[in-house]
Amino acid sequence: MPHVNHLKDFTTQDLTDILSWAKTIKDNPDDFRSALSHQSLAMLFQKTSTRTRVSFEVAMTELGGHALFLDWQSSNFILTDLAYEIEYLSRNVQVIMARLLHNSDFLTMAAASQVPMINGCCERYHPCQALTDVLTMTEHSDKPLETLHLLYTGVQNNVSNSLVLMADRLGFSLTLATPEPAENQESFDADLQAMITNNPSIVQVADPRDAIVSADFIYTDTWIDMQYFNDPTKHAEKTALVAQMQRFQINADLVAGHELKIMHDMPIHNDYEITETAVRDPRSIIFDQAANRLHAQKGLLYWLLVANT
Ligand code: CP
Repeated sequence: MPHVNHLKDFTTQDLTDILSWAKTIKDNPDDFRSALSHQSLAMLFQKTSTRTRVSFEVAMTELGGHALFLDWQSSNFILTDLAYEIEYLSRNVQVIMARLLHNSDFLTMAAASQVPMINGCCERYHPCQALTDVLTMTEHSDKPLETLHLLYTGVQNNVSNSLVLMADRLGFSLTLATPEPAENQESFDADLQAMITNNPSIVQVADPRDAIVSADFIYTDTWIDMQYFNDPTKHAEKTALVAQMQRFQINADLVAGHELKIMHDMPIHNDYEITETAVRDPRSIIFDQAANRLHAQKGLLYWLLVANT
C-alpha cells in the first residue's frame, strides 16, 4: 500500500501515471463522475490551508466520493496517542490526507494506518504541489517535459524539495537560485541534497540572473514558513529577509525581456518573494497553477484508489 509522503519510493512510471490520470480526468470529467463512489477521504489539518483543503474536497465530490475535514484542535487527535486515532480513522475511510507540522508524525500515522496516507504539506515535503506544478508546466509549453528548464528562486524549503524529487524522476532541468541551505534547517533532507549534487540537470546558483536566460518557467514560494508568517516573534526576521533576499524576488526587473512563465504555489506575500506586478504580468500562470491543484488531486486519488489497486 503506497503512502504519498516524500515520493522517494515512487518510480518515474508511478509519477507519469498519476500525471496522465490527472490530464485524462481533467479532459473527460463526465467519464469519472462516479469513479470514487462510496469512498471517503479524511483530511486532517494541523496548519492553515486554502488550496489543499478546497482542491481535495472538491476532487472527492467531483469523483463521486466524500471528503471530511478534521481540525486538529477540535478533534481528539490533540488528546491521545496518534497511532490509536489513525488506526481508528483508517477503519472508516479509504484514504487520509494530513497537513502536519512534522514529517515524523506522518511516519507514525502511516505506520498505523490501514489505508493510504497523503502528505498535504509538512516542514520538508509538498508532494501534491509538485505534481500540480509539473502538470501545469506540461500544459503551458509545447516542448517535451524533459527539455524544460524550471528556475526556482527563493529559499530551499518543502516546495523546492519536492520539485527536486520531480526533476530527478522526470528528467526536466531545475535550477535552484537560493542561499545554501543549513543542515539544521527544518526542511533539510540529505537525500535530496545528494540529488542536487549528483544530478547534472539540477544545479544551484547564487542569483536567478545566472540562469534566467534559458528558463522556461520561473517559480518562487514564501521566504518564511506559513506557520510563522503572522508570528509577532518573527517580525524582525521577516524585515531582515526583505533586504537579504531582494535579489531572489520575482519582479518586473528580473523578468524583463525574458520569454518565460511565472509560477507561485500561493499563498502570495506581495513585495516579499514576488511583486503584485509580477503576479499580474501576462506571463504569470499562477492562477492556472493553483486551479490545477484540483486536477492533480483527482489524478492522485484515482491512481491510489482505483488504477493502482
Ligand atoms: N499551495 C498550497 O498548499 O496552498 P494552501 O496552503 O492554501 O493549501
